[in-house]
Amino acid sequence: MNFHLYFLLLEILVFFLNSPPSLPLRPSPSWRQQFHSRRLLMFFHFGVNTFTDSERGSGHESPSIFNPERLNASQWMDAAQSAGAQLVILTVKHHDGFCLWPSAYTNFSVASARREGGCGGRVRGRRQGAYVGFYLSPWDLHESCYGDTLLYNEFYRELLTG
Ligand SMILES: *[C@@H]1O[C@H](CO)[C@@H](O)[C@H](O)[C@H]1NC(C)=O
Ligand SMILES: *[C@@H]1O[C@H](CO)[C@@H](O)[C@H](O)[C@H]1NC(C)=O
Repeated sequence: MNFHLYFLLLEILVFFLNSPPSLPLRPSPSWRQQFHSRRLLMFFHFGVNTFTDSERGSGHESPSIFNPERLNASQWMDAAQSAGAQLVILTVKHHDGFCLWPSAYTNFSVASARREGGCGGRVRGRRQGAYVGFYLSPWDLHESCYGDTLLYNEFYRELLTG
């Protein structure tokens, strides 16, 4: 065999022996791929501004105006399902700062609402074929420490956990 050809083949062999192993295959579709394949997502904005009939809350509403006496969350899910939504997102705290859960760290929440027992409805999405997510605004027009990054970050973390 021609010496140069022999040397070239040897180099090619060494190249392939040294090439890194292929990356392990990951499960597919990934959660992110699934997220992007969901064509229709639906947001439910529900809070004090629902009862002031405004698009945005100011953060200065009285929490007692929150009075969902005729709430039926199953109707929301039926509407989402009939529209073909595969993911519904409930805004549990919007810019006004009103929380749809009771917290020891604020009184601007369902705990101060007229109706006892919180929101008065449960969003049971999976049973009806949609995924359910929650949205929480980091902006807060109610909380006085908003603007002081360190204090507010601490408040926000505590709000989520207690
Ligand atoms: C809530 O809505 C669902 C779906 O429309 C209906 O089947 C159910 O009877 C309603 N519940 C009440 C208490 O009205
Ligand atoms: C909530 O209101 C109660 C009663 O007025 C008060 O004692 C408490 O300090 C308030 N909590 C917060 C986090 O503002």
